[in-house]
Amino acid sequence: MGKDQDKMTRQRLYINIDHVATLRQARRASYPDPVAAARLCEDAGADGITAHLREDRRHIQDADVTALAAGLRTPFNLEMAATEEMTRIAARLRPHQVTLVPEKRQEVTTEGGLDLHADPARLDACLAGLRAAGIRISLFIDPDARQVARAAALGVAAVELHTGTYCEHPDAPAHLGALRAAAEQAAGLGLAVHAGHGLTLANVGPVAAIPACEELNIGHSIVGHAVFVGLSEAVRAMRAAMDAARAG
Ligand code: PXP
Repeated sequence: MGKDQDKMTRQRLYINIDHVATLRQARRASYPDPVAAARLCEDAGADGITAHLREDRRHIQDADVTALAAGLRTPFNLEMAATEEMTRIAARLRPHQVTLVPEKRQEVTTEGGLDLHADPARLDACLAGLRAAGIRISLFIDPDARQVARAAALGVAAVELHTGTYCEHPDAPAHLGALRAAAEQAAGLGLAVHAGHGLTLANVGPVAAIPACEELNIGHSIVGHAVFVGLSEAVRAMRAAMDAARAG
């Protein structure tokens, strides 16, 4: 069996439940509850739950992450910016994993990967705080060789490759090629490889089929699909699409 086939293990599906909270916050209502949604996702086969506590608290709120950190059966992946406030919150909650993401106030969603060369003092302080709390660290980066190399040098456990550009241009081979190359480079450097952003039932296949890619983080399209088929069915449909792609 070849090296690639060896690595075609079952890929983890982490569901990002931010947009359940978006719906709630649109009315400042008490429903729908993202924690209840997370439990449904777990029952439907999610391997973990992801939520992004933004500095502007646009969707997920502090009480949500507190409940998620305490009450999930599966690992909780907290997405956050590398700020002092967020590092303090993470150290208190001790989620299974933190994924560091860039954040801009006006953006509609996370627009690009972290630039790991941009503000080393800030990043180092955050990494030190997370390490002291014993939290697994993943860095959300563009599929770029310099960023992958820097992530490895920083000694983190994982990178999450930003699939957004591929998702905007799924038929342009260069973007998928960049993801494949970055995944291989990262795995070769001993990093766990995750991927996400913008993935849908229609475009997930080629990313799910990247052998080194262990974990996908998917949110918006699943919550959107859930409006029509329910959350459990939407999770199962994504799981099936990933498994079919990985089976070849
Ligand atoms: N991964 C990261 C790092 C993200 O910031 C997001 C969006 O919050 C996702 C994955 C999920 O993206 P989407 O909601 O487009 O599936």
